[in-house]
Amino acid sequence: MTSETKHSLIRRDEMLKAVLEIGGQPLDLSEYATTGLVAVGVGPRGCGKTNVGQLIGEQLAEQGWVTVIFDPEGEMELMYGDAVKDEEELYQCLERRDRKIVVVRATDAAEFVPYGQVILDAADRFRKPLFVVIDEGQLFSASRKRSESIGEAADIINEFVGRGRKRALDLYVTALRYTGSIHRLIFANKNLTFIGCQEDAAAWSALAPQFKDSGIDFGDLSALAPGEFFCISRRGIEKVKTPMAEALKCVAPAAKAARRALPATFSQWDRAMRGISTERLGALSEPVMTLLGKVAGLSQTQMLAGQSALQDELEVR
Ligand SMILES: Nc1ncnc2c1ncn2[C@@H]1O[C@H](COP(=O)(O)OP(=O)(O)OP(=O)(O)O)[C@@H](O)[C@H]1O
Ligand SMILES: [Mg+2]
Repeated sequence: MTSETKHSLIRRDEMLKAVLEIGGQPLDLSEYATTGLVAVGVGPRGCGKTNVGQLIGEQLAEQGWVTVIFDPEGEMELMYGDAVKDEEELYQCLERRDRKIVVVRATDAAEFVPYGQVILDAADRFRKPLFVVIDEGQLFSASRKRSESIGEAADIINEFVGRGRKRALDLYVTALRYTGSIHRLIFANKNLTFIGCQEDAAAWSALAPQFKDSGIDFGDLSALAPGEFFCISRRGIEKVKTPMAEALKCVAPAAKAARRALPATFSQWDRAMRGISTERLGALSEPVMTLLGKVAGLSQTQMLAGQSALQDELEVR
């Protein structure tokens, strides 16, 4: 084998020209040519994680990849056509590359395993760009090693992560949470992360290290609207408002931008006020507060919690 052919096994030429438009600065995939993409989308139900997979999948499908979408919820067939009927058909699709977006129906880990193996085989054999979307990753991967099908499926996904780079296999996995959901290996190797709205303050401790020195805190995460994410890429952290995938536009309404979340409880007010100067807090006289509360549409309970947090804060300053 000449050094040239050796080299060609791991060169991702398609990556050198590919660009993703995900709502921020265009993401130049040449930065990922040596590692491949291991993308992760984390956030609660309805924050737009699946749309991110579709968006990237559609864009890569136009730039030389075949996108394979695992569809546990039967929502993709409506958008991208019937799922393959069996493993054989998936293999043929990956060999012929005549369909740019291929849907695979798998509702649980046991159904995933044979298709996952076909993808590993095909990636090994053909080494042509593949983008695999594993939606609802927690169905197919677990944080701890298990013996049943989910252990087997998790091993396959870990192989996508570990062996993908040299086999032109790129990946996007979604998870509801950052801990206790999908296998740590995925998080350890991820190089493109989308973090959506977090309502649960307990989730912040696991996420905080990612935002170290960025000035972004839990309040910023909880104020994200559907389709908005903090995107952590090779370039750093950026807030992105993702466009809707073409196929989703046809079947779903765009989410209405949510109002920025305002503090409701004493502790939320307390946290919010700590960042405000004493002079500004002192200026919050009763009539000013009433006016601001009305403008923001605060409830009576929110007003009362805010007032007592303000009093407490001014007393300790
Ligand atoms: N970028 C976006 N802009 C506007 N609306 C969006 C966007 N992304 C998603 N939506 C809307 O939000 C809905 C939910 O999006 P999506 O299915 O991607 O969320 P999800 O995080 O995958 O939720 P689940 O965990 O329930 O599967 C979509 O059907 C669409 O109406
Ligand atoms: Mg989804």
